[in-house]
Amino acid sequence: MMVAAPEREAMRDVVVRPMHPRHLRRVMSIERQLYPRPWSHSLFTEELARTDSRGYFVALASTDSRPWRQVVGYAGVLLQAGEAHVTTVAVDPAQHRRKIATHLVLSLLGWSRAKGAEVATLEVRAANRGAQRLYSAFGFAPVGARPGYYAETGEDAVIMWAYDLQGEEMEERLRAQEARLELPGGASGAPDDPVPWARGRVGLGGEE
Ligand SMILES: CC(C)(COP(=O)(O)OP(=O)(O)OC[C@H]1O[C@@H](n2cnc3c(N)ncnc32)[C@H](O)[C@@H]1OP(=O)(O)O)[C@@H](O)C(=O)NCCC(=O)NCCS
Repeated sequence: MMVAAPEREAMRDVVVRPMHPRHLRRVMSIERQLYPRPWSHSLFTEELARTDSRGYFVALASTDSRPWRQVVGYAGVLLQAGEAHVTTVAVDPAQHRRKIATHLVLSLLGWSRAKGAEVATLEVRAANRGAQRLYSAFGFAPVGARPGYYAETGEDAVIMWAYDLQGEEMEERLRAQEARLELPGGASGAPDDPVPWARGRVGLGGEE
């Protein structure tokens, strides 16, 4: 079911920082809301320890009910042989479509490019059209499927790749996405695709 996207202001004071163990309490709370099979605390801790090949980031912002900055989303990437593999991108369901994932993917790709990555890849649920739209805007294109990849639900994964991360076209895409950070949610015209496995609201309009 599609729901028309209400107008939402982009969050203005978002900063992206490297993820630190002190962020994990909020990260785990978002993770548990979003996924039927959440990552464990120890998995995050192990990933954070592998600083040579992993880049993990949190987006911090204040909200109406919490005027101090707190974790509103997080994302990670694993670098191997010039390939950046996006391991996670997740945003607090109460703050969806306020450009937080856009901030995070910009950081993931910026970090990967700085580390010399040439290509990037990820898996995304076949039904997760909103996320696929987000990734397409960064130049990721579907190249195949992994049937039954998500064992907990039996869902297929779409495999997406972005090529030539160091090239001019990618630089332009990143600049264009950076420019979109100020636009309101829904600016692309895409209606809200539901995130059915997430517990909590998608977007604004009620309690947090
Ligand atoms: C996918 C997810 C990370 C997107 O986070 P977000 O902060 O809401 O995304 P953004 O606001 O940066 O979206 C940027 C663009 O992506 C597209 N998009 C993102 N979510 C969308 C949705 N639910 N429906 C339709 N389009 C969507 C839109 O084009 C949007 O631009 P617009 O709002 O200006 O029209 C978030 O929905 C989430 O945490 N989902 C659950 C976890 C998940 O599925 N992660 C991806 C795993 S591969």
